[in-house]
Amino acid sequence: MKAVVYEGPRQVSVEDVPDARIERPTDVLIRVTTTNICGSDLHMYEGRTDFEKGRILGHENLGEVVEVGEAVDHVRVGDIVVVPFNISCGFCANCEKGLTAFCLTTNPEPGMAGAAYGFADMGPYPGGQAEFLRVPYGDFNCLVLPEDAKEKQTDYVMLADIWPTGWHATQLACVQAGESVVIYGAGPVGLMAAYSATLKSAAKVMIVDRHPDRLAKAEEIGAIPIDDSKVSPVDQVMELTNGLGADRGCECVGYQAHDPEGHEHPNMTLNNLVKSVKFTGTMGVVGVFVPSDPGSPDDLYKQGEIAFDYGMFWFKGQTIGNGQCNVKNYNRALCSLIHEGKAKPSWVVSHELNLDDAPTGYEHFDHRDFGWTKVVMHPGKLN
Ligand SMILES: NC(=O)c1ccc[n+]([C@@H]2O[C@H](COP(=O)([O-])OP(=O)(O)OC[C@H]3O[C@@H](n4cnc5c(N)ncnc54)[C@H](O)[C@@H]3O)[C@@H](O)[C@H]2O)c1
Ligand SMILES: [Zn+2]
Ligand SMILES: [Zn+2]
Repeated sequence: MKAVVYEGPRQVSVEDVPDARIERPTDVLIRVTTTNICGSDLHMYEGRTDFEKGRILGHENLGEVVEVGEAVDHVRVGDIVVVPFNISCGFCANCEKGLTAFCLTTNPEPGMAGAAYGFADMGPYPGGQAEFLRVPYGDFNCLVLPEDAKEKQTDYVMLADIWPTGWHATQLACVQAGESVVIYGAGPVGLMAAYSATLKSAAKVMIVDRHPDRLAKAEEIGAIPIDDSKVSPVDQVMELTNGLGADRGCECVGYQAHDPEGHEHPNMTLNNLVKSVKFTGTMGVVGVFVPSDPGSPDDLYKQGEIAFDYGMFWFKGQTIGNGQCNVKNYNRALCSLIHEGKAKPSWVVSHELNLDDAPTGYEHFDHRDFGWTKVVMHPGKLN
């Protein structure tokens, strides 16, 4: 099969690799028809993780079931399914509590919890930017889509990661109807957090970035764009909230946060959140941070440490929640919103490419080139 393979920093290629196949009786094999490039892929693409050369990328996957293992009861050949980026077992102590991003059995590395497709430090699993994908514990991990799956596949594929993750940011931040929210980052995840906050009837959604195309996307759904290359985002949020700060805050950037000139400051968005969220406010951090980052220009962060404004955070009595999204907590409900016509997350999609165009897609998305908001690839077609 053809697959997108990591070759080294800023290098991916489309290569022939051995076909994905059923390996255990609980596996499901899908023919991938829709697979996205994610901001998380870019941390790997840029060589800022220990993702091994030769591995297949891709954790946002949708496709048609072509084979099921003999212990699979529910999922059937021909079903169209979307697959959470988390690989989880369903029976461990964390999965039982819905914490599927921290599954205790699917990551073979001792002392680690949580697994994902084509992801650094999250188990050996190949990604789905390929013609076929093996889905472990297929009954648990496949969400079977309704009959409009084909027409709405670019909506449904957002259920693999970025919409649940944006929703998770607002859940961790405890966003309630009528409240004000500030979101750092207007990439696909930040846009989905803004979309989620809006669906939850937040009264005021403010979003910070410096890319005019991404800010314009946010404006389309009624969010207030804040361009931090022109104004101080903290001052701006204070002004928009009568000097109090936002009720809630979401971090959708991660450890490669940088200033508008491009210099990285891994603590930048976290400290801006502390400053621009109100006393007793809550925040959700879904942007990725890692235990060590040898390539960081920040000496502390090389060891995964952050100069966090803890004094002010404590003084303000704020609360923070963070981590990978437990996609299965949300994907069925969000699927219904798409099916019933209440939501259209494909609004973030800017480009639909063939798998062969992956190197171009990566390059443009990595540069945050104008208009390259979210890239969807189609290794195959739905019949
Ligand atoms: N927790 C999870 O489960 C989960 C899931 C998916 C993605 N992520 C992470 O979410 C983050 C965002 O992903 P994405 O797909 O939107 O990626 P992205 O890289 O396209 O978007 C990040 C955006 O943040 C902006 N930005 C950079 N520094 C900033 C700053 N100081 N202030 C404000 N904005 C700033 C960039 O201009 C960019 O538009 C990544 O770290 C990704 O790995 C986490
Ligand atoms: Zn992703
Ligand atoms: Zn588990």
